[in-house]
Amino acid sequence: MQKYEKLEKIGEGTYGTVFKAKNRETHEIVALKKVRLDEDDEGVPSSALREICLLKELKHKNIVRLYDVLHSDKKLTLVFEHCDQDLKKYFDSLNGEIDLDVVKSFLYQLLRGLAFCHSHNVLHRDLKPQNLLINKNGELKLADFGLARAFGIPVKCYSAEVVTLWYRPPDVLFGAKLYTTSIDMWSAGCIFAELANAGRPLFPGSDVEDQLKRIFKMLGTPTEETWPGLTTLPDYKSFPPYPTLGGLPQFAPKLNSRGKDLLQRLLVCNPALRLSADEAMAHSYFADLNPAVKNDRCQ
Ligand SMILES: Nc1ncnc2c1ncn2[C@@H]1O[C@H](COP(=O)(O)OP(=O)(O)OP(=O)(O)O)[C@@H](O)[C@H]1O
Ligand SMILES: [Mg+2]
Repeated sequence: MQKYEKLEKIGEGTYGTVFKAKNRETHEIVALKKVRLDEDDEGVPSSALREICLLKELKHKNIVRLYDVLHSDKKLTLVFEHCDQDLKKYFDSLNGEIDLDVVKSFLYQLLRGLAFCHSHNVLHRDLKPQNLLINKNGELKLADFGLARAFGIPVKCYSAEVVTLWYRPPDVLFGAKLYTTSIDMWSAGCIFAELANAGRPLFPGSDVEDQLKRIFKMLGTPTEETWPGLTTLPDYKSFPPYPTLGGLPQFAPKLNSRGKDLLQRLLVCNPALRLSADEAMAHSYFADLNPAVKNDRCQ
């Protein structure tokens, strides 16, 4: 730990506190995430450590780099690449207006990071604007990849706040235990809609039931026909048969028709029918994507 000089506290999240810090030798600025685990007296579970160490190999320009894992005194500190701000704070600075080219660029970078992790069999499982970090040059990077698997899916935050359900798909809300890459694709769809609305969340539910109700009112209540196996999910509950009114395109009026189409293909209740990250990147919405973004010179 002497290697780093702590500067200021940046934030608090599900697993602990994040500090900005400086490497005393190289003067490089990093983000230190001090993880608090429930089983504090038992130390850090070896399964969690194994998972975390694998994440050090996950190197991609749209993934926040995990430089180092410091384990001492039964405590765990993760040393991450530092970014300028998170997407939530960026939204707060917008005053309700967002450039549609920025929306396209951010979504593409989000999908590219997801495609990379999914191809390495790593799921995020807790994607939300606070876990998307951006730099002044327009780069977007996914933070906290793989942590949910290492430490368990979050229920409560370190600060006792309840974890947000807003980006969770209906299959997970109904207690599906088999997590697949489709969980992250739903979250990506919710974030796409929120980007297109300059930070207005799509489904700001207050609890599991309210969350599902908001989803079904917008997309129509799924049935065994549209989603085989639905009624056998562990926490399945029936909901009124809300009609499919096609409200989703109206939520994002500023998106062009291709954007609306992509949004609707991501936000599908049946997880088997959701687009994958690779499929989403190939969608015609990105046909006119700024080549600098496509070829990595981020804008
Ligand atoms: N690498 C980083 N660079 C810059 N800021 C960061 C970095 N990592 C985290 N932060 C900031 O610190 C805040 C808290 O991070 P943390 O990941 O602990 O919580 P969270 O993202 O809100 O929720 P979760 O714990 O579920 O990921 C983030 O929202 C972000 O603003
Ligand atoms: Mg985070």
